[in-house]
Amino acid sequence: MAASEEPEAPTEPLDVACGLENMPVSVWPPGARPGPFQYSPDHVAGPGADADPSEITFPGCACLARPCVPGTCSCLHRVVQRGLQRPLQVFRTDGKGWGLRTLAFIPRGRFVCEYAGEVLGFSEAQRRIQRQTEQDSNYIIAVREHVAGGRVMETFVDPARVGNVGRFLNHSCEPNLLMVPVRVDSMVPRLALFAARDISPGEELSYDYSGRFLNRSDGGDKGRPGSGKPRKPCFCGSASCAAFLPYDASLYCTPEKPAPGQEGEV
Ligand SMILES: C[S@@+](CC[C@H](N)C(=O)[O-])C[C@H]1O[C@@H](n2cnc3c(N)ncnc32)[C@H](O)[C@@H]1O
Repeated sequence: MAASEEPEAPTEPLDVACGLENMPVSVWPPGARPGPFQYSPDHVAGPGADADPSEITFPGCACLARPCVPGTCSCLHRVVQRGLQRPLQVFRTDGKGWGLRTLAFIPRGRFVCEYAGEVLGFSEAQRRIQRQTEQDSNYIIAVREHVAGGRVMETFVDPARVGNVGRFLNHSCEPNLLMVPVRVDSMVPRLALFAARDISPGEELSYDYSGRFLNRSDGGDKGRPGSGKPRKPCFCGSASCAAFLPYDASLYCTPEKPAPGQEGEV
């Protein structure tokens, strides 16, 4: 370095979570950077959402004003509200784009992270998904909960533009995480991911995008009925890989091309 040159300022390691989680979320390889998005640890209301996920509809705890007080407030005891408890890293995978891995051991049953993003109405989820090209990553998840009286509650979450670290989770046909919808203080469920088994440091974290868990069915058809697009190949590498990523047929159908009566999957 010539005497007149300025010494290079040491670059801070990138925190994908922008300081909004309990701990930084690092990126591998150093210097690489995932495409831009706005980090939000919690759901936000998007177009067409029936309910604002930030609105408290189940007060639940005594402290209605924020922040809650440790030691006195019951809501602080719920695991999902404690946020990230283990160091996670966004990393470049072979063939799947970015992925998420743990840097520390995670015991079975432990809460790992949420899948948070814009909560959308059905029409907006359908509009966004139908505008995707074959090369685009799909971040939209459709969660269907079968409740009393045969009713089905649908929640559509898209963390593509606004979302949390969960948006980097890839699909696996033999996943190590299980997604559970959890209601804390709103009717809009938080999508909590728990360790389905002990997970070693360095292991990629994954869940089954179909919502099933080690009980998948077909994987046989190669097209997305109603979309005219081929299904995306799955590179999860598991012994029982179904060969294609799950998808939600209802989000691809149009009034002219109704859904072929397939179960909801993304
Ligand atoms: C929610 S994003 C996951 C993060 C994404 N890999 C990225 O780079 O941001 C879902 C997309 O990741 C890719 N993906 C996820 N799991 C995959 C798998 N098992 N095989 C191939 N591609 C996968 C697909 O492009 C899918 O639409």
